[in-house]
Amino acid sequence: MSTTPLLFSGSSNPQLAEAIAKRMKISLGDALVTKFKNEETRIEIRENVRGAEVFVVQSICKAPNGNGVNDALVELLLMIDALRRASAARITVVVPYYGYAKQDKKTKPREPISAKVVANLLKTTGTKRVVTMDLHAAQIQGFFDIPVDNLMAMPTLCNYLKREGLSDDRIVVVSPDAGGVHRAELFAKRLNSSLAIGFKRRPQPDVSEVTDIVGDVNGKIAVIVDDMISTGGTLAKAAEAIKARGATSVHTVATHGLFADNAIEVLANSVIERVIVTDTIPILQPAGEKFIQLSIAQTFADAIGRITTNRSVSELFSVEEIKLDANFVEPITVS
Ligand code: R5P
Repeated sequence: MSTTPLLFSGSSNPQLAEAIAKRMKISLGDALVTKFKNEETRIEIRENVRGAEVFVVQSICKAPNGNGVNDALVELLLMIDALRRASAARITVVVPYYGYAKQDKKTKPREPISAKVVANLLKTTGTKRVVTMDLHAAQIQGFFDIPVDNLMAMPTLCNYLKREGLSDDRIVVVSPDAGGVHRAELFAKRLNSSLAIGFKRRPQPDVSEVTDIVGDVNGKIAVIVDDMISTGGTLAKAAEAIKARGATSVHTVATHGLFADNAIEVLANSVIERVIVTDTIPILQPAGEKFIQLSIAQTFADAIGRITTNRSVSELFSVEEIKLDANFVEPITVS
């Protein structure tokens, strides 16, 4: 197998794919990713991939060109198929945001487990390895029988918070719900801060209520940590509850900024001071100064480099190993 990796991109997050390629000091592979007049997805790999180690970057999310979440998935599947039929030696999908992840179990009768369906499709089409980031539930790795590297945005986000003076006993890290406690614990450990937990309930899909906060937030700067922002309801409600319990200010960090529906407006009008996300998903509408986007391109470039050379990927995230500024990049302006 050729040792120089080839990197291709679908249309959902071309900016991130370019940024990863730049850090790997390579150019993106030449692929046509478009639609036929009848709206079916049209893919053409326009360079030789025979015997190559190939990576395809595609978040399963809405694209800057107007394509929807399902288009992103179909593009990815067809690209894998094209690469496999063109004799690529190993195909790794780099899915910075794994869409459909929230549907990882049946919550009522006759629902699909959509995250498993996505896993089946990726595997069946020819994927040999998955690289993703902050899966909604780490157990989704078990939906695959191939290697899955679930990277973390935590070092990048923590480095930014530290640089902004949001660390140590000035702050309390808050998980907005029970499901996010492990993630929040990792942040609290790295930031040398205390931890609080919100109690969230969802009376219906996409509607959330935060009923209580366990832990002391009084007189502290609160940093709410979540994996994703969809409608913004969880963070806005958690921030209100935290403020009502005496926090001096509330900042939020999340890996995936989906900003569905009117989330930008909800968060802009909330008590939250800063909304910090990464670029796993492109921000497709004007957001304003409250919104800060950090690039995790370096983390993906490092992981791809390590996979290609058979070195440990987990070393990238060991608290002891990482130097404070190793993953830091300037925020992308969101206006
Ligand atoms: C829920 O389990 C997730 O970790 C997020 O809290 C949730 O997806 C955020 O959704 P929304 O922004 O719509 O409240």
